[in-house]
Amino acid sequence: MTVELAECGWSSLDARAWLTPQLLAELQAEVSALHEADAMAIAGVGRGLGHTHDKSVRRDRIAWLKGDSAPQKALFECLEGVRRGLNERAFLGLRRFEAHYATYEAGDFYKRHLDSFRGRASRVVSLVLYLNEGWQAQDGGVLQVYNRESSNELCGTVLPEAGRMVVFMSEEVPHEVITAQRTRYSLACWFRCDEVPFPIGIDATGPAC
Ligand code: OGA
Ligand code: MN
Repeated sequence: MTVELAECGWSSLDARAWLTPQLLAELQAEVSALHEADAMAIAGVGRGLGHTHDKSVRRDRIAWLKGDSAPQKALFECLEGVRRGLNERAFLGLRRFEAHYATYEAGDFYKRHLDSFRGRASRVVSLVLYLNEGWQAQDGGVLQVYNRESSNELCGTVLPEAGRMVVFMSEEVPHEVITAQRTRYSLACWFRCDEVPFPIGIDATGPAC
């Protein structure tokens, strides 16, 4: 993972090397229950006072994870292991992580973007874990990853199938979620170099960059 991250800026992996099928199923059950209970918030773009809900840019719904349910606790332990591993192998100085579930319904997308503004060193590494059994090419909703040097060049396409995980450099790798044709569940996590979370109240939807 770290070699590809350094050389290409991104890597697509099988998360089942770290997460059990049971944990994946429990996370999937949690996000679908939140979605069905209408407990997820419309995702925004930008941070702090510049935070807006722009439906021409992204249309997903999100729920921040607090690590307070059994599957979230187990997941947070895994993510902490990933954080330590990245620091040991790639010397990234990652101090903490934040994570949210995301749901895209049929018709939803997220246009090409970066997860962090260059130089801010807040979100350094992005990780997305997919939670959809039996995802087919015709279901759309693929993640398209662009070349970090020339952002018009497509480098890869990732099917959001359960257990698939993608990791990339937040400030460098442009990426886009193509319109989903059925409900698409995922979990996004950002490993950050800054220590202190945003004070509660600055950004009601969470500490987005
Ligand atoms: C994001 C994002 C990609 C995906 O939430 O910032 O780019 O495949 N997600 O869900
Ligand atoms: Mn993104």
